[in-house]
Amino acid sequence: MNVLLLAAVSADGRIAKSADHLADWTSKEDKRFFVSKTKEVGALIMGRKTYDTIGRPLPNRLNMIMTREADASKNVQGELEYTSKSPRELIDELKERGYDSVVIGGGTSIYSLFLKEGLVTDLYLTVESLLFGSGIPLVDGVPQLILDLQSAEKIGEQSVLLHYKMTQ
Ligand SMILES: NC(=O)c1ccc[n+]([C@@H]2O[C@H](COP(=O)([O-])OP(=O)(O)OC[C@H]3O[C@@H](n4cnc5c(N)ncnc54)[C@H](OP(=O)(O)O)[C@@H]3O)[C@@H](O)[C@H]2O)c1
Repeated sequence: MNVLLLAAVSADGRIAKSADHLADWTSKEDKRFFVSKTKEVGALIMGRKTYDTIGRPLPNRLNMIMTREADASKNVQGELEYTSKSPRELIDELKERGYDSVVIGGGTSIYSLFLKEGLVTDLYLTVESLLFGSGIPLVDGVPQLILDLQSAEKIGEQSVLLHYKMTQ
């Protein structure tokens, strides 16, 4: 199973200024990459707080929302599904449902969970040309991990897309 972590980061490694900060600071090239990768893969896992900043399921993809208080009555099968399953159980379920890849769409707590479990295979980071100075880090409480740089591509005037493979 390919487990692809996708994130846009400021040049000082932040993914947002605060938990309710909308993704209105990322480049159109990053948004285009996110849309095309998630559509290609077909399934996206995100935390409930990140989902709340978007406010609606992304169309033509399975949106799985991690929450400790999953309410199945809000689920629209195959489109929007709330889940309290562990990362490993979720990956196994998606495999059984025929997916061979999934995007982990954040935020910090969900990125960190999947990294700690050793489930992530690839990291795609779009580095945007700004400093937040303070804010929410990409990950929190994750042990040191060595990455293997596959490519570094300038995708816009002010954006670089880094693709790493996990080595462990
Ligand atoms: N720049 C980027 O690429 C990017 C991408 C994504 C998000 N973000 C930003 O990240 C911020 C949100 O990150 P965050 O870490 O605060 O929140 P988050 O990871 O989006 O969501 C946290 C929520 O996920 C649920 N959760 C966490 N661990 C769980 C577990 N083990 N099992 C089940 N559910 C679990 C809980 O939901 P309940 O409280 O409902 O139980 C928790 O409150 C926002 O500012 C967003 O804009 C940035």
